[in-house]
Amino acid sequence: MNKYFNQEFPGKLFTVEGIDGSGKSTQLKLLHQWLQNEGYGVFFSEWNSSPLVKTTTRRGKTKQILTPTTFSLIHATDFADRIEREIIPPLKASAIVLADRYIYTAFARDVARGVDPSWVRKLYEFAVRPTIAFYFKVPLNVALDRILSSRAQIKYYEAGMDLGLSSDIKESFKLFQEKILIEYEKMIDEYGLTVVDATLPINDQQKKVREIVVKKIKELKKFPKPFNYFSQFAAKK
Ligand SMILES: Nc1ncnc2c1ncn2[C@@H]1O[C@H](COP(=O)(O)OP(=O)(O)O)[C@@H](O)[C@H]1O
Ligand SMILES: [Mg+2]
Repeated sequence: MNKYFNQEFPGKLFTVEGIDGSGKSTQLKLLHQWLQNEGYGVFFSEWNSSPLVKTTTRRGKTKQILTPTTFSLIHATDFADRIEREIIPPLKASAIVLADRYIYTAFARDVARGVDPSWVRKLYEFAVRPTIAFYFKVPLNVALDRILSSRAQIKYYEAGMDLGLSSDIKESFKLFQEKILIEYEKMIDEYGLTVVDATLPINDQQKKVREIVVKKIKELKKFPKPFNYFSQFAAKK
């Protein structure tokens, strides 16, 4: 496996991290739309989305037979597939890649599950270093309120029920997220994560994110927007 962490690619990679409910997907979607509207070539890749391991992951989760190690290895396989198919090719082609969760998610979650920190870091040695790795920092209670008010159900592994922290799923989720938060905090200095105050209103955060991104993409090419023939006939209000 190639080591990419110190290699430079002409494209730019922006990643978002934070506990569940920190607002990272909201911010990345807004950034994505804006970059596209500006005319940049933008690609998106999401944690745990590779078709390669989908069936295995689903089976393991449904039957609740995943151990911290097998869970970690499945995610690493998912990531290896996406880095080779979805992340490196656009980076080589001078495009922008946006990743919703990156290796730091593995470092936070797997270590919270009891996996050895240096083992999991070594496992992901083939990752590309992000241009900017945003970390959406939010107190646990703020994130929990957002999650619990917007979602009907929390899933078994998402709540860390496999760790036996509590038989109550909400309590387990809280304890698991707390452990993850501790791991993220350690990584701010270790990896130079770019911290965003995720308690701020959505627009304020987005403004900061764009200010940081725009400085890094100056040399990238913008493409003219495709001419939409039918737009000239669109009804004017
Ligand atoms: N800055 C914010 N203030 C208040 N609510 C927010 C903020 N950002 C996101 N949310 C809401 O919190 C919930 C979780 O956001 P999401 O972006 O899915 O978080 P994540 O991807 O980090 O789990 C959503 O309902 C979203 O609308
Ligand atoms: Mg999300």
